[in-house]
Amino acid sequence: MLRRTHSCGELRSEDVNSDVVLAGWVNNYRDHGGVIFIDLRDREGTTQLVFHPENAEAHALSDKLRHEDVVAAKGKVVTRQEGMANPKMVTGEIEIDCVELEILNKAETPPFTPDDADRVAEDTRLKYRFIDLRSPRMHEIFKTRYRVTKILRDVFDSHGFYEIETPFLCKSTPEGARDFLVPSRIHEGHFYALPQSPQLFKQILMTSGMEKYLQIVRCFRDEDPRADRQAEFTQIDLEMSFVEPDDVLNVVEDSLRAVWKGILDIEIGEVPRITYAEAMSRFGSDRPDMRYDMELIDICDLAARTDFKVFTGTIESGGIVKAIRVPGGGVMTRSQTDGLADWVKQFGAKGLAVTKVGASGELETGISKFITPIAGDLIERLGATEGDLLCFAADTSKVVHRTLGELRIKLAHDLDLIPEGVWKWLWVVDFPLFEWNEETGRYDSLHHPFTAPCDEDIDKLTEDHAGQVISKAYDIILNGSELGGGSIRIHSQDVQSKVFELLGIDEASAESKFGFLLNALKYGTPPHGGLALGLDRIIMHLCNTTNIRDVIAFPKTQTGADVMTEAPSPVDEAQLDELALRVQTHHLPEKAV
Ligand code: AMO
Ligand code: AMP
Repeated sequence: MLRRTHSCGELRSEDVNSDVVLAGWVNNYRDHGGVIFIDLRDREGTTQLVFHPENAEAHALSDKLRHEDVVAAKGKVVTRQEGMANPKMVTGEIEIDCVELEILNKAETPPFTPDDADRVAEDTRLKYRFIDLRSPRMHEIFKTRYRVTKILRDVFDSHGFYEIETPFLCKSTPEGARDFLVPSRIHEGHFYALPQSPQLFKQILMTSGMEKYLQIVRCFRDEDPRADRQAEFTQIDLEMSFVEPDDVLNVVEDSLRAVWKGILDIEIGEVPRITYAEAMSRFGSDRPDMRYDMELIDICDLAARTDFKVFTGTIESGGIVKAIRVPGGGVMTRSQTDGLADWVKQFGAKGLAVTKVGASGELETGISKFITPIAGDLIERLGATEGDLLCFAADTSKVVHRTLGELRIKLAHDLDLIPEGVWKWLWVVDFPLFEWNEETGRYDSLHHPFTAPCDEDIDKLTEDHAGQVISKAYDIILNGSELGGGSIRIHSQDVQSKVFELLGIDEASAESKFGFLLNALKYGTPPHGGLALGLDRIIMHLCNTTNIRDVIAFPKTQTGADVMTEAPSPVDEAQLDELALRVQTHHLPEKAV
């Protein structure tokens, strides 16, 4: 076998006259008047091979080459003929004048070539993922993914973290999603759960005195895959002892700074912090996208001065009125704004009042005639100018924030208001500890039940005041997407019991679910806290894709299937028998006729 001397991305004009052997895949083949040109591709790039009829044997063989054949070729590096250099290729000034060709493996005609992958249905790409992954773009993504984890490990190492593995076969962890279960053969009728995160183990490692734990770890959550979610994804999970939120935030910022510098040569400046309350009030979201304006502006005082029933009625019943200014949104037609009023109903809104700023700087169309007395003040408060669309929501603060928050995002996309190449980082801090669940009539944890309340609010851990308790939880947001979240944890058994009580988790069920953690808390657990970053999401940002499947080598489709291996699949009776399992098919109810 010919022994490779160089990669296909390596040779330049300085190498002219060297004898080389390249190996790789046939990316393209062309016959120009009997001279055969092959673009040979490997992971480092593409180099042009040339076969002249004078080298009869190699030439004859090269004539048989087709897409994706694997070959090795020996030849001399030569300068391309006058006018034939390809400035788009880093190897474009040279070619290899080949004297010998070895076909290492013929390929069947592929269903698509790596260059064409973008034009192929995603299911086909995933079924033939081995071809899809051959494209330079995919190689770049997985190289980036590797480099990111390498940088992260180095940064955490410099801060004294140990990488420690925690089990995959474990007891259910409460991150709020459904568990994937694994039946136990030895313990008939018992199941392991795949970890939704290593949360409880990492806390126990703090009890164990490890002080700084890191793990780049797969997590499993049985939820429907979405553009930025997979059932199986990777966290950069960390936990630290004897820390306050600032200590965790600083280490995480440090690690992200190193990644953005190392991969994109971009400095992440100061990362601003805002409280959950401020994020909700100003942006209607706990992960606001700061790349564009359209802040939610309170206009309750102005609304009260109008005769517009929608506004006055809402204020009288204790609700609020807020507005957003949509720059250039005046171009939207009546039917488009009517469409928005329908669209917001999914967030509980009863409608969406709109008006526009006309050429004379006056409000026109929509609700303008109902709000004449406040027009001047409104324009001033919103900083509105000609061509703007103003949107108003009147309802409970919850509905107003949700509605305008979602509308803000939709309009930014629809009207192309998001600047390219901008990185807006943000810490959202001071989340409430609990969230009232209307359906169950109970409090739920906003993060997870081990999140610590802030010190001043410990006394408010009562049924009446729990809704006001602020936690020591924090999320890191990039361009409106949640990259990570964490908190300082409860390390006192007393506080933990109170929190369980408020969550409606009784002693017996707390004992059976997380008895091992409660037990550990009794035996000298230091104050501790941590965070987990979503690695897949980080890579999505760095590689500029909105599809999480692009950054996972073998991802699942929207229906949770791996179309290449055809998982999930039925198993044979013997396997079920060994596990003492029987499959019960769920029948859908008969359709009513
Ligand atoms: P959380 O559930 O917020 O916290 O997860 C942390 C980060 O993991 C990423 N992530 C996901 N990425 C892809 N697909 C998913 N299905 C998915 N779910 C989560 C997100 C998210 O910000 N144990 C806590 C962390 C802690 O408190 O230390 C936890 O798991 O980027
Ligand atoms: P109506 O008086 O119901 O015809 O509503 C007048 C305008 O106000 C319409 O454009 C509605 O979409 C809008 N609207 C109705 N209810 C609300 C609300 N709660 N908040 C904002 N706009 C609303």
